[in-house]
Amino acid sequence: MATATADATPAAGRGPPGPGLTLGATRRGRTIGAMDTWKYFGITHADHLVCNPTSPERLDELIGLLDLPPGAHVWEAACGKGELLVRLAERLGIRGTGVDLSPYELPVARSRAAARIPAAELTFIEGDAAAHPPEPASVDLAVCLGASWIWGGHRGTLAALRGFARPGGLVLVGEPYWKRQPDPAYLAAAELAAADFSTLHGNVKIAAEEGLTLLYALPSRDEDWDRYELLQLRAAERFALAHPDDPDVGELLARARRGTDAYLRWGRDTLGWSIYLFRRPPDTTP
Ligand SMILES: C[S@@+](CC[C@H](N)C(=O)[O-])C[C@H]1O[C@@H](n2cnc3c(N)ncnc32)[C@H](O)[C@@H]1O
Repeated sequence: MATATADATPAAGRGPPGPGLTLGATRRGRTIGAMDTWKYFGITHADHLVCNPTSPERLDELIGLLDLPPGAHVWEAACGKGELLVRLAERLGIRGTGVDLSPYELPVARSRAAARIPAAELTFIEGDAAAHPPEPASVDLAVCLGASWIWGGHRGTLAALRGFARPGGLVLVGEPYWKRQPDPAYLAAAELAAADFSTLHGNVKIAAEEGLTLLYALPSRDEDWDRYELLQLRAAERFALAHPDDPDVGELLARARRGTDAYLRWGRDTLGWSIYLFRRPPDTTP
């Protein structure tokens, strides 16, 4: 049986995660079936405030932990619907830049910002975050929640974000971790490898090796995962009911239902998720 160790460096991959069944394949950038990937995730994440297993309350708790002065510059890779940047602008008066590949998510980010805090300096760029980096050592907070494949995994993401943060600045990362040894049947169903992720402690250890100091961690609770996963199923079922003639409905439902099944059967007890807050030490060079 494959093992997850504190030293495991998650494997490289590309593409958005989703329900348990498609997580592995999409991390490796493989199209599953004929349906457009962005359409699939646009439909299944239609009801999500944030597209990761974090509750609105814990998002606010997280923001309360960030010591950022008004006007601080926050850069976020894979910002999705922009909720973190919008809340940071509302509560702390930051300036923000978000980059995301999805043509389904960025319009939501822009309309949330325009409706809630139109005067804020928030910029949303549609594109590959790796191709739109900030200046080295320039930002007060560098963020990537749930898209570490952009830099080939957790370690590469930490190294990239550390390079973007100014000395003494903050790095915020969201990354899955193994709660227990994954069942081989789960790995096969989800097309994952044990080496794709480390443990909670292992993710922190990797950050220390990359020169980052841990300030805080917010591991998600079961109910946060339940909401994240089951909102996807509900949205897929609702879309199918409303659009019975859509050519992708069969694949949409099959993927969403199989994903939920894998989550309830294995994923809920096996795969964790945490947001980690780090500081780049003040005396380091880029
Ligand atoms: C799991 S969602 C997380 C979204 C957001 N960080 C959040 O937590 O709500 C992953 C996001 O990564 C985006 N994405 C995937 N590959 C990307 C890339 N190369 N550059 C920028 N965004 C990317 C997807 O469009 C999607 O919005």
